Amino acid sequence: MDSSEPPFQEAYKTLFLNYTEAESNHANELIIVKECELPVIDLSRLELGESEREECKREIAKASQEWGFFQVVNHGISTEILERMRCEQVKVFKRPFREKIREGYMNFSAGSYRWGTPWATCLRQISWSEAFHVPLDDICGLGGLTTLSSTMEQFATTVSDLAQKLAEILAEKMGHKATFFKENCVPSTCYLRMNRYPPCPISSEIFGLIPHTDSDFLTVLHQDQIGGLQLVKDGKWIAVKPNPDALIINIGDLFQVWSNGVYRSVEHRVVANKKMERFSTAYFFCPSYDTLMQSCVEPSIYRRFSFREFRQQVQEDVKRFGHKIGLPRFLV
Ligand code: SIN
Ligand code: FE2
Repeated sequence: MDSSEPPFQEAYKTLFLNYTEAESNHANELIIVKECELPVIDLSRLELGESEREECKREIAKASQEWGFFQVVNHGISTEILERMRCEQVKVFKRPFREKIREGYMNFSAGSYRWGTPWATCLRQISWSEAFHVPLDDICGLGGLTTLSSTMEQFATTVSDLAQKLAEILAEKMGHKATFFKENCVPSTCYLRMNRYPPCPISSEIFGLIPHTDSDFLTVLHQDQIGGLQLVKDGKWIAVKPNPDALIINIGDLFQVWSNGVYRSVEHRVVANKKMERFSTAYFFCPSYDTLMQSCVEPSIYRRFSFREFRQQVQEDVKRFGHKIGLPRFLV
């Protein structure tokens, strides 16, 4: 009988065998300091009078500076589309594992399916999760999976509008015109990632997704109610309490560069769950590969670099060190 489960335990056998005391100390890091509710911002106020609109924009900018993360409610994406997206996602992960890894199985571009972290050299580099990475300009080519493809397209269109709107507000609050995002953030680089976090037998020792920052302008995340997402606030890891009505927004590295460090790209991770599987879908708002990234204020703390150079550097670091180094590499 075909199994849909990736062979995590088999693949990481040597890492489990070589498991050391030193690594076990890492388990302490997984202890939740506290669970908290991220700032919740009601976007319906953007349609009201000027004072409500301005207050809403101020809250978005403040949360992006202080937390790098916030939640939005009344975000304009219908519950119906979010639920349909979830059902399709569950279905696609249920496919047999060998189908999921077969290149081109759904006409996604090569490398679109990822399970775990094949480059991991110790347990703490493992992400106990599988994911489909779908560039927005590839959605229409999802082979015979027509319901997945049409649902994803509807989801991506509305989420793109939301991301664009938030980016424009953040630019405006820095005193800048937002045409940059309209001109540079294109479907060929924006993408969706559907994540599944299977139950993990050693959830106290291993991450669902290793700590990282996002390599985009901003991310829109739809998660289920299982929980597991954590982020760094004031030097401590805190757990995000799921809110069924909200989408989570987080600032990525590129907004941190563009705003010269005003908006913060904050480290986050997903802890694994021993009993329950968890699903999430993330939308990554990115510019074209040739876009030159630089700060909108002088003097810039980052040197100029193209998005292509950034992505390549991230990939090299992940292969070499087992994790991303990110923005510290680009400081002047
Ligand atoms: C991500 O950080 O890309 C995904 C987070 C999540 O699944 O909650
Ligand atoms: Fe992330």
